[in-house]
Amino acid sequence: MTTRTSRPPVDLDWNTLGFSYIRTDERYLSHWRDGAWDQGSLTLDNVLHISEGSTALHYGQQCFEGLKAYRAADGSINLFRPDQNAARMQASCRRVLMPEVSTEQFIDACRQVVQANEHWIPPYGTGGALYLRPYVIGVGDNIGVRAAPEYIFGVFAIPVGAYFKGGLTPHNFITSGMDRAAPHGTGAAKVGGNYAASLLPGAQAQDRHFADAIYLDPATHTRIEEVGAANFFAITRDSQTFITPKSPSILPSITKYSLLHLAEHRLALNVVEGDVFIDRLDGYAEAGACGTAAVITPIGGIQHGDTFHVFHSETEVGPVTRRLYDELVGIQYGDRPAPEGWIVKV
Ligand code: PLP
Ligand code: COI
Repeated sequence: MTTRTSRPPVDLDWNTLGFSYIRTDERYLSHWRDGAWDQGSLTLDNVLHISEGSTALHYGQQCFEGLKAYRAADGSINLFRPDQNAARMQASCRRVLMPEVSTEQFIDACRQVVQANEHWIPPYGTGGALYLRPYVIGVGDNIGVRAAPEYIFGVFAIPVGAYFKGGLTPHNFITSGMDRAAPHGTGAAKVGGNYAASLLPGAQAQDRHFADAIYLDPATHTRIEEVGAANFFAITRDSQTFITPKSPSILPSITKYSLLHLAEHRLALNVVEGDVFIDRLDGYAEAGACGTAAVITPIGGIQHGDTFHVFHSETEVGPVTRRLYDELVGIQYGDRPAPEGWIVKV
């Protein structure tokens, strides 16, 4: 472990932060050997030294998470539903045969990293947050296709602003003819292979000036699954129903489940996890992408083949999307009351 030194002052324009790697001061590492995770510790070193035979490098045996720490108006620090990220990381670990990190160790590691990098948390009111990136990777000497002999659990932190430029601003998306995951594959696990599969479709979408690709269900290509880095939702024409795709090959988004709850209990909408057919978008007045990084990004329009479908507007945020955003973000920054257990103070 490297020991702490004095901290340099943070010189960032908090109001114009995007979503890019910034080397913050301390990160957490824990090693799994001989059947158990060690206690873990913080280090100043942002470079990993691992075996060239690591399964994470060759066979994609790894997974990751994403969650944020928010500076509240009273100066305190909020983590949003970290227990849900811990549970999802456990599910991802099970899917690719890695040892699970307990919820207790996961939240403790996040707390340590936030505390050690507290001066990197964007101030309240700037719209930024400290993004935490937990991960588990298979390491150690190996060459056959099998689970690794050793593992590393790490967490690092980066101050971030909007993932899609402009935050609560409509963006246009385009459907891809390629899939990010197979019908019974690893789509529901947050493993790197899904993201490797999304790099080319994502780049192709951006080449055509769309924010990202939208994936259709891999079996029939008739239903919307999700966006490359976020889940999808829509509001029906009568503004009465919040609908979001249900599929075993999409990532179970914590933001999406939070919005399902808020739409039902705070906006008194009907909520449905069901089919959103790509050729029936006329039935929806608004649509959005939701996730930790994306927060809520309104979808202006979707290009599918030769058809470009506009929802509410390509420039204006729809009224239901705005109410959902205010409710979600208000809870995350501590301005609105949170449902039981959603906010964990650091
Ligand atoms: N879908 C994908 C593919 C993602 O990468 C993410 C980001 O984590 C999400 C959905 C949203 O999940 P969450 O709301 O838990 O961040
Ligand atoms: C997140 O929202 O946490 C994500 O993981 C999305 C993307 C940065 C991969």
